[in-house]
Amino acid sequence: MNVYDSARMSDVLRPLGYQPVDLPDAADMIILNTCHIRDKAAEKVFSELGRLRLIKEARKAEGQQTIIAVAGCVAQAEGQEILTRAPYVDIVLGPQTYHRLPEMVARAARAGGAVIDTDFPAEQKFDFLPEAAAPQTKGNYTSFLTIQEGCDKFCSFCVVPYTRGAESSRPVTSVLAEARRMAESGVQDITLLGQNVNAYHGEGPDGTVWGLAQLAYELAKIPGLSRIRYSTSHPRDMDDALINAHRDLPELMPFLHLPVQSGSDRILAAMNRGHTADQYRDIVLKLRAVRPDLALSSDFIVGHPGETDEDFEATMQLVRDVKFALAYSFKYSQRPGTPAAGAPLQVPEDVKDARLQALQALLRQQQDEFNATLVGKTIPVLFTGEGRKPGQIVGRSPWLQPIHVQGPHSLIGQTFSVKVTERLTNSLSGELVEETEYA
Ligand code: 5AD
Ligand code: SF4
Repeated sequence: MNVYDSARMSDVLRPLGYQPVDLPDAADMIILNTCHIRDKAAEKVFSELGRLRLIKEARKAEGQQTIIAVAGCVAQAEGQEILTRAPYVDIVLGPQTYHRLPEMVARAARAGGAVIDTDFPAEQKFDFLPEAAAPQTKGNYTSFLTIQEGCDKFCSFCVVPYTRGAESSRPVTSVLAEARRMAESGVQDITLLGQNVNAYHGEGPDGTVWGLAQLAYELAKIPGLSRIRYSTSHPRDMDDALINAHRDLPELMPFLHLPVQSGSDRILAAMNRGHTADQYRDIVLKLRAVRPDLALSSDFIVGHPGETDEDFEATMQLVRDVKFALAYSFKYSQRPGTPAAGAPLQVPEDVKDARLQALQALLRQQQDEFNATLVGKTIPVLFTGEGRKPGQIVGRSPWLQPIHVQGPHSLIGQTFSVKVTERLTNSLSGELVEETEYA
């Protein structure tokens, strides 16, 4: 979502005369868009700021001003601390106030002091942002589109409800208009974004509340949008309407990121996830019944407070049962202000390390097995650009793997049938079956 947010910040600043540059040394303003989800991500901000300070000083010596802004969730959570630790920062803004950037820039330039805006304003930023700019360069065939933000679920370990704020959905008309503009500019593969995207409940044009399933049926009607994805979903919001949309809509890609975090019911309860491991297994069965080629990806946390060897084994068992095509796994990180941070029975670091290694080995093996099932198959590939080697083009499979093929540039921006010939660690290679467009 930070990628999407950064693009929208550029949209807001363009009317002021700002445009993107390649290197920070050439920038009149540098915005660091930050993530607070784990300690490591948050700490990175301060080391990065140290580098930016040097750039600011070097430019100052040449008589040039540089505005440094810190945006995103670290700004939201640690606004004051940022100004204390990095007094050369000019602007601190949270994820819900970036529509006010022009005003903040003017204030920073005028007053010369730091400007801080980490409100959760009553107004929705989307009502105040300019239209998302059409992709500036030809070749944006894939795009993100935020439809929902924030979270009311309060998992024990997670900062999101505090940094992104309460759960809220954009109105249907505004989402459809943005999707249509994207499609008109050439986007074919769209990923709907939200911290709890399947909790989407936007106001419909008819005044009723629409869920994600209803929205997906409408998006699928937009000419040119041939691939629809959404991320990240919560198992509790995976309702029958959405499962059936996977049955009905070929545009809904057969790849779903559905984090489970743990396979132990005890830990799932401690995490306040609101479902059991078997309920997760059932959702997966239902999804695969309507869409047999559906592949799953997930997030896992090892070493949540109270996690025993037996709990961890339950996670390993769930992984063996479900079989994931892709997964992200993390050691539990204590986040200030979250309920789990102060919980007794914190798991020692070396135990977390060992569990993470075991889990990641299993997940890597499953990713490799999934990729192996595609070798020899013919799949539709949307070509998005040039490959690294001469004569090569690269595209995206329905399951998000990059796939390299020998082929002419003229195919970029179109979908063709490709026979997968080889699996590499994080990508595939293949051969064009025939130079006719995939129907
Ligand atoms: N420690 C480790 N991982 C976390 N995540 C969220 N909060 C924490 C934390 N405190 C992980 C979850 C979530 C993903 C985005 O980040 O797995 O799904
Ligand atoms: Fe965080 Fe997701 Fe839980 Fe919300 S549902 S608190 S975003 S992990």
